[in-house]
Amino acid sequence: MLKSKHLIGLENFPTSDLNKIIDTSFKFKEILEGSERKVNLLKDKTIVNMFFENSTRTKISFTLAEKRLGADSINFSSSTSSVKKGETLKDTIQNIDAMKIDGAVIRHGHPGSALKLTQYIDGAVINAGDGSHEHPTQAILDMVTLKEKFGKIKDLKVGIIGDILNSRVARSDIFALKKLGAEIVVCGPSTLLPSNAKNLGVNITYNIDEVLSWCDVVIGLRIQLERMHLGRIPSKREYHSEFGLTYERINKLKKDIVIMHPGPMNRGVEIDSKIADSENAVILDQVLNGVASRMSILYLLLADKSQKL
Ligand code: CP
Repeated sequence: MLKSKHLIGLENFPTSDLNKIIDTSFKFKEILEGSERKVNLLKDKTIVNMFFENSTRTKISFTLAEKRLGADSINFSSSTSSVKKGETLKDTIQNIDAMKIDGAVIRHGHPGSALKLTQYIDGAVINAGDGSHEHPTQAILDMVTLKEKFGKIKDLKVGIIGDILNSRVARSDIFALKKLGAEIVVCGPSTLLPSNAKNLGVNITYNIDEVLSWCDVVIGLRIQLERMHLGRIPSKREYHSEFGLTYERINKLKKDIVIMHPGPMNRGVEIDSKIADSENAVILDQVLNGVASRMSILYLLLADKSQKL
């Protein structure tokens, strides 16, 4: 149903596959919003969710999507597994594959870990975030949210604010938005912008007010507080004052701007609570669209051809 066997990243993912996943997500959203929220399109399929890093949204969303599709869903958590006894990633994965699984979802701190998994697993592999490399399913749910809100993505003006350097969400969003024809400006402290930003095909500004007055939609990124000791951000207070999505900034725009955030949010640092909870924010729509998008991805990668939606 897709040209691709796996979903590892969006950089080299066919645009036709990306569009098919987005369009099919809307059909699953209708199902999720109806009275019969369960379909048996993946009956007899077994999917293992392997989370080597913490997650709330992605893990629950995949588990829910699998259950809604009628698949057998197994959750593997590294903190309670034999990884703690020193087992390697390769051995862990080969043992899981020996139990005859049809698909694997992996989140891991190392860039390239999802790709590595494809060497050891016969079934489809889906990247749920690999270090600072990519988070393709987050970007797909973001595209579904944008298309739902604006009816199109082509020529949309999108600002991405924050830690672009370390953000797998920013990278996957940029690849998806470029494939779909949006214009992108990234903004953040110079210490958190990659030196090759121009190669990513995006414009850069260090002035948040400039990007806010230009864009239709702004994606705020989580400031990775664990990196503050590296000296990349002087303090939470200064970051908030220079790059925060504050009530004062958004209010003075006098235009409707759509606010997105992948979560988890640091309220009072990259975004004010008043903005996160405002009418302009579609942050919880993103979460619901995450379930629909992951149903679409799992269905298109794993369903037998006879299972028509
Ligand atoms: N957006 C996202 O990936 O959130 P989690 O880390 O909670 O999965």
